[in-house]
Amino acid sequence: MHQSHITPAGHQTRASAPAKLILCGEHAVVYGRPAIALPLNDLRAYAALERGNGNRGLHIAVPDLQGSWQVEAEPEHPLSELVLSTLRRLRAAPTELADYTITITSNIPVAGGLGSGAAVATALVRAVSSHLERPLRADAVSELVYSCEQRYHGTPSGIDNAVIAHEQAIWFERGISDPERSEATDQQMLDMELLHLAELTRSKTPVEPLSIGEPLTLVLGDTGLRSETRLPVGEVRRRWQADPVAYDYLFNAVGSVVRQARVALSSGDITSLGLLLNENQELLEHMGVSSPELETLIEAARSAGAWGAKLSGGGWGGIMLALADDDTSSDIAEALRQAGASQVHTTQVH
Ligand code: PMV
Repeated sequence: MHQSHITPAGHQTRASAPAKLILCGEHAVVYGRPAIALPLNDLRAYAALERGNGNRGLHIAVPDLQGSWQVEAEPEHPLSELVLSTLRRLRAAPTELADYTITITSNIPVAGGLGSGAAVATALVRAVSSHLERPLRADAVSELVYSCEQRYHGTPSGIDNAVIAHEQAIWFERGISDPERSEATDQQMLDMELLHLAELTRSKTPVEPLSIGEPLTLVLGDTGLRSETRLPVGEVRRRWQADPVAYDYLFNAVGSVVRQARVALSSGDITSLGLLLNENQELLEHMGVSSPELETLIEAARSAGAWGAKLSGGGWGGIMLALADDDTSSDIAEALRQAGASQVHTTQVH
């Protein structure tokens, strides 16, 4: 529980949660290989729980989407479900909050690979648990948020909820063994994944905190193209089923890159880390999840002096990241704008 982000003030309780960035290992992580994810503390989602709605029942309001609804009147809404499951977990009745509205705001770009949905959900769970003075451990928050993520994305790996709830750089590894995987039918695979996820999210989440030797300066470029994560994930699954040997080879190669990236990250070896990010991008291109727009931005960043650059998240659209330093970050940001990025964001990760 990150008390520093929670400010009980009179009848209002506020909580927040960061955006996330997958540094390396996306897609292969779905098949049990490791991935590294980072929280982006300067992009955040907020939930404010405020009293005094005239006892109209607990409401959720999202002013940015001009939406407001009563939780018990729309229990199927993923955020209603999340609040209700959080209350159940805290052994509290919705009536305890009958006079409250939870207002959600966020400065995280939506559907751009930065985990805005998981950040909103995490802020919501934190606000409710903090208001009821029953703090939840990061693992428990992550588990609640994972259920909400499933409503939006099907069977996500769980990396978004993990990094956001833990709010620190993580090593994430789900671990379903290769023999299990190669002998399974589609349905068995799905059952296995669900079982593993249930086990992992319930007890030992596959999350290890990571140390970062030197602060990282990252420049993020948004292609402006939105692609639902489940689409490239589904395509990779089809291709893996059609050619498991080639795809397992690619996933293993990504796993090896991610292991080396961990060493480079902890020793602050930015040169090696950059080369590894480039290698990861090449493997993602072979997997078929890159796109011309992403590659234009990646090339622009490399030409402007980035140590390395790659797509981040599901691909086909969304964002790319470039590893920069203090001297090059503004040139890279400018090059990304020139190359057509719809948004550019420079951030430091410690
Ligand atoms: O597009 P994002 O940021 O939600 O990231 C998806 C990451 C994948 O590895 C492609 C899928 C997953 O569930 O881990």
